[in-house]
Amino acid sequence: MEKLITLLEKEVKNAFLKASYDEKYGFVVVSNRPDLCQYQCNGAMAAAKEYHKAPFQIANEVLTHLSDCELFEKVEVVNPGFINMTLKDQVLSDYVTQMKSLPKFGLEEAKEPKTIIIDYGGPNVAKPLHVGHLRSAIIGESIKRIGKFMGHHVIGDVHLGDWGLQMGLIITELHKRKPELVYFDESYEGEYPEEAPFTISELEEIYPCANAYSKEHPEFKEAAMNATYELQQGRRGYKALWNHILNVSVADLKRNYDNLNVSFELWKKESDAQAYIPDMVQYMKENGYAHISEGALVVDVKEDTDTKEIPPCMILKSDGATLYNTTDLATIVERVKLFQPDAITYVVDKRQDLYFEQVFRCAKKTKLVDDHVKLTFLGFGTMNGKDGKPFKTRDGGVMRLEHLISQIDDAVYEKVMANRDLPEEEAREISSKVGMAAIKYGDLSNQASKDYVFDIDRFTSFEGNTGPYILYTIVRIKSILAKYASVYGDSEKLAENVILPEDNASQRELLLMLVKFQDTIQTVYEENAPHRLCQYIYELSNAFNKFYHETKIVSEEDKEKRESYVALSIFTKQVLETCIDLLGMEAPERM
Ligand code: ARG
Repeated sequence: MEKLITLLEKEVKNAFLKASYDEKYGFVVVSNRPDLCQYQCNGAMAAAKEYHKAPFQIANEVLTHLSDCELFEKVEVVNPGFINMTLKDQVLSDYVTQMKSLPKFGLEEAKEPKTIIIDYGGPNVAKPLHVGHLRSAIIGESIKRIGKFMGHHVIGDVHLGDWGLQMGLIITELHKRKPELVYFDESYEGEYPEEAPFTISELEEIYPCANAYSKEHPEFKEAAMNATYELQQGRRGYKALWNHILNVSVADLKRNYDNLNVSFELWKKESDAQAYIPDMVQYMKENGYAHISEGALVVDVKEDTDTKEIPPCMILKSDGATLYNTTDLATIVERVKLFQPDAITYVVDKRQDLYFEQVFRCAKKTKLVDDHVKLTFLGFGTMNGKDGKPFKTRDGGVMRLEHLISQIDDAVYEKVMANRDLPEEEAREISSKVGMAAIKYGDLSNQASKDYVFDIDRFTSFEGNTGPYILYTIVRIKSILAKYASVYGDSEKLAENVILPEDNASQRELLLMLVKFQDTIQTVYEENAPHRLCQYIYELSNAFNKFYHETKIVSEEDKEKRESYVALSIFTKQVLETCIDLLGMEAPERM
């Protein structure tokens, strides 16, 4: 369905043409003075320069070709040459009536669907998820849902960190604790046990312990590095242990991500990319892309236009070892082979931006990807505590994601239970949905690249620009519909009713907000900007609440009007629900 603003723009462009001006000046924007008009065209000011005429005169000439246009209630020129437009109420209400009958409310899906891989989550095996992983999960999930909604083929890949020193540290620590385990017996040739020799809680205790110990004891670290090397060379017993670590850890990660309403199409790991490395290195050497510098194999990636120093991308260290880089490049090779993506988007801490710049340049320069493949780094800022420093536990440790979530849920639970009695199970379910919205909205409503302060009190407030406020608006609509149903019977059948034109300012504002849906989704997609979707649902919620305060809905006596109001409420709820789903949130039945 054509966007309403595009329909307007066609009229205005046509009027510019008829008045003998270039149609490019007929662009229309939503008014920044809603008290004066709904839409405006500011093109006469730009045209004035080209045609050497006063903008006011140009605008007036254009106006003569607009005044009999069916769409407008009012169209006028104001100084110095703005064309201000206000739509007929009928146009607005008809447009919304039509929107609500269409799939995705008339959103035009991508004409040429693209294959997009989103690399997000990025947890590390055997290390518990901490708040640093939260942002990647929340933002990535939302970007993915929005891309799918636009009709693209989007694949989320968790890109598990399973190839680093942490593996060697765990193996070495286990060896210290339980040297009798069969995995350490190099002469053993039989099958290894199916059961892991540790639980997830043991695993989570083992890693930090080994990590701390290695910092004080160089010989332990040496052993761990060696174990990592042997693992990577394929030592049987270590591989079997590594498999156990992976399985135990992945089961736990899946549970955590499930709780966050985050899911991945692919559970690929850094280790999966290793098989592609030898050929890739060979190819880079043969084609003259890579050269030896101080013993290491590197690809130069600096460009003449650089304003800052971009160091070469290192492919192999002087001892032949591979790096984080090498794995990421090989992962690109793997992704191209398996999925032929048009785009790969990385949702990673913004402190890795230089690193990704090197990797992207290297991938393009060495033609691991075609020129048309869009590589995007979506770097996010840090989640800080109220003291402005990276969020920590009270004793200064790293806050585990599970603890953070339960803290929020408890805070919401208090609010939900205040002054009333709810069945425990329901109260807990409400708290977990509202808590999730508090966390996600608190995060997503900020531009991703910015740091933000994690403020439980503010995030869990039912008022203001918060997740709970948005859910509260949806719950309010649900209760209006229930009230309607208790008097007049089922309200759902009114979903298809027409919206009547009304001379009612708050209905008009609500309709104008609903009409922005398509445009908003498109911009949010194009700019990878979920914060704009948050802004939209905040404004839409405000518009609905104003309408609700100023309009009798269920108690309206005129049947046609009442039904139109109910239909409008149902539609607002549908739009809000669609949007929160794109943000990875859900609304409860009541709260
Ligand atoms: N595992 C990494 C970390 O915890 C993040 C991985 C990001 N993705 C990537 N393709 N490098 O820092």
